[in-house]
Amino acid sequence: MNKLSQTHPGTTGKNHVAIVPSATTQYLSQDVPYTFRQNTDFLYLTGFHNPDAILLLVSDSAKGLPDHKAVLFVQPQDSQWELWNGPRCRADDAVLIFGMDEAYSIDELPSYFRKSCDNSCSVWFDQSLQTNHLDFYELINEKLLLSNERSIKNLFSLRHHVHDVRVIKTSDEIELMTKSASIASEAFIETIRHGRSDMSELEIGAKFEYECKRRGAERVAYPPVVAAGNRANILHYLTKTGIVCDGELVLMDAGCEFHGYASDITRTWPINGAFSKLQREIYEAVLMTRDACIQLVKPGASLNAIHHSAEMIIGRALQDLGVIKKEFGDVRLRNEVSRFFPHHVGHYLGMDTHDTPQVSRNATLQPGMVVTIEPGLYFSNKLANMPDRYKGIGIRIEDDVLVTESGHKVLTERVPSDPTRLEEMLSSRPTS
Ligand code: GLY
Ligand code: MN
Ligand code: MN
Repeated sequence: MNKLSQTHPGTTGKNHVAIVPSATTQYLSQDVPYTFRQNTDFLYLTGFHNPDAILLLVSDSAKGLPDHKAVLFVQPQDSQWELWNGPRCRADDAVLIFGMDEAYSIDELPSYFRKSCDNSCSVWFDQSLQTNHLDFYELINEKLLLSNERSIKNLFSLRHHVHDVRVIKTSDEIELMTKSASIASEAFIETIRHGRSDMSELEIGAKFEYECKRRGAERVAYPPVVAAGNRANILHYLTKTGIVCDGELVLMDAGCEFHGYASDITRTWPINGAFSKLQREIYEAVLMTRDACIQLVKPGASLNAIHHSAEMIIGRALQDLGVIKKEFGDVRLRNEVSRFFPHHVGHYLGMDTHDTPQVSRNATLQPGMVVTIEPGLYFSNKLANMPDRYKGIGIRIEDDVLVTESGHKVLTERVPSDPTRLEEMLSSRPTS
């Protein structure tokens, strides 16, 4: 907190209160909840999995020595609620189990806040994230920040400070990310071996989810993309209602969440076990770009610099394949490349799949960060001005890469990506 006041001249530096609300239950339809997912910053700061709680981080050095406290406000006991939903954590348990300094029923929040926050208090709260929990945003805005007695004048955003910390993983977090990547890798291998022509994309996605959960993952990190043939050119194809036909490639982009930490992998493989010559030409261009970009992951690099290199490497490969004219210079080349490679080469990975979005992709990579490297080439059969021979091919290869002191470590390399190794693995599938 004192560090925050140094970087924000508007704060007094004496009395600070940060407010971090949890998520609430979202509903699919009347009385039917979606699986609960905690607000990630709240989970990072508390480890607390129940909905409808609020964390206050209170720092007060007005009376001399600084006094820092984590105070959690939880839902009061409610036997009717527990009849339907099971036990939930009480205030006393929040102190014992989650190491809070204090915990109370949420009814006590307004009076506690008034007591902790003097007139010159700096409040750290992200007002713009209202969609998570409308009731709480109303409570915080009306009962805390704009109560009858006063309105808070010093209001600062907390989120980017939390993301600056979250982006560098501790050794315990690296262990969890390694486990998440390993579960998803094993699940990928099982799923690739399971797929057959005439199978539905839904079945392939379900197989991946099953293989993750049977290895201890609580959930998939995001709805898997399973896209055969030309559907692989729809970047976020989630419906999975298609059937995989003989001769097609299947692109699967999937990951799991293990104790709050995500993995994010993509592989593209031929359902009948062998790449065609044209499929292999494009596959090798993407693979070569993936390999070159992974080599660039090291302290001092940045995701944007790696992306720039990816565009040039993939651009030259497309020139060699006759997709882009040889005479184009660098600027025109990058412009052309974006028609076939329209997304970024990577993002930070952690508790969220697209982790710590407040951290710029220009930030210098440091040991303890985890990033994805995920080049792709997409030749939708609707695309103009390109050779017909590649139309309908969509390929992405994605791995999770830890930045280390000496360079990097690929957490997902167990999943074959070399086309010959993939074909060997496919040829050893049991006959079904
Ligand atoms: N699965 C989302 C992504 O690769 O960014
Ligand atoms: Mn992905
Ligand atoms: Mn990704």
